[in-house]
Amino acid sequence: MTLEKQKQAVAEAAVEYTLKHLDFDSYLGVGTGSTCNYFIDLLAEHKGRIAGTVASSEQSAQRLRTHGIPVLDLNGVDEVQLYVDGADEVNPHLELIKGGGGALTREKIVAAVAKEFVCIVDQSKQVKHLGKFALPIEVVPMARSHVSLAIIKLGGEPVYRENVITDNGNIILDVHRLYPMVSASTLEQTLNNITGVVCNGIFANRPADTLLVSSRKGVETISAKS
Ligand code: A5P
Repeated sequence: MTLEKQKQAVAEAAVEYTLKHLDFDSYLGVGTGSTCNYFIDLLAEHKGRIAGTVASSEQSAQRLRTHGIPVLDLNGVDEVQLYVDGADEVNPHLELIKGGGGALTREKIVAAVAKEFVCIVDQSKQVKHLGKFALPIEVVPMARSHVSLAIIKLGGEPVYRENVITDNGNIILDVHRLYPMVSASTLEQTLNNITGVVCNGIFANRPADTLLVSSRKGVETISAKS
């Protein structure tokens, strides 16, 4: 099975999971990226079943609306019962690196609000330790040099992502040489403490609750509780 087919397979499994676990009057968080795009397209077949969604990016909001699926402002929603999103890397503790698509800040906000965070990946994203994927960090534009120097002091190698402005009007630095992240949650907090950092792509203090992972053999469900 190709990686593309594996993305489709895990997106199908995520739709099934959503239909099984999302209450009729509850709101669904929808993430960003190519795996989520499959999820959105397949979810459209069941749109009558979804009370409303909140999206982690303008791109996903647009795709949802194109399908006629309602998208709400997070501030107008009392609870997000389920949040479905992809990842760039996932370790055995269901800690993640996210932000390859540049949507990390809104993704982290929706994940923080959600009662259950369901991460959907193909097997290529599973790692023992996080950090081979360059860590995306969203930064206020005027703080780019200051943040870069602080990251270099921590041993990282920041690379400015050219021609990218986030949905929040900021820039992205992709940080190399952070592998292996032995304590991802400590590094997440350390990076957050650098003035000018809006958000970093480590999801360790709020990891996924459930992982759906596809491989040639099919889709496996892994719960953080198990
Ligand atoms: C978006 O900013 C990211 O966090 C994505 O969720 C992540 O990059 C996974 O994307 P793909 O499904 O395209 O691999």
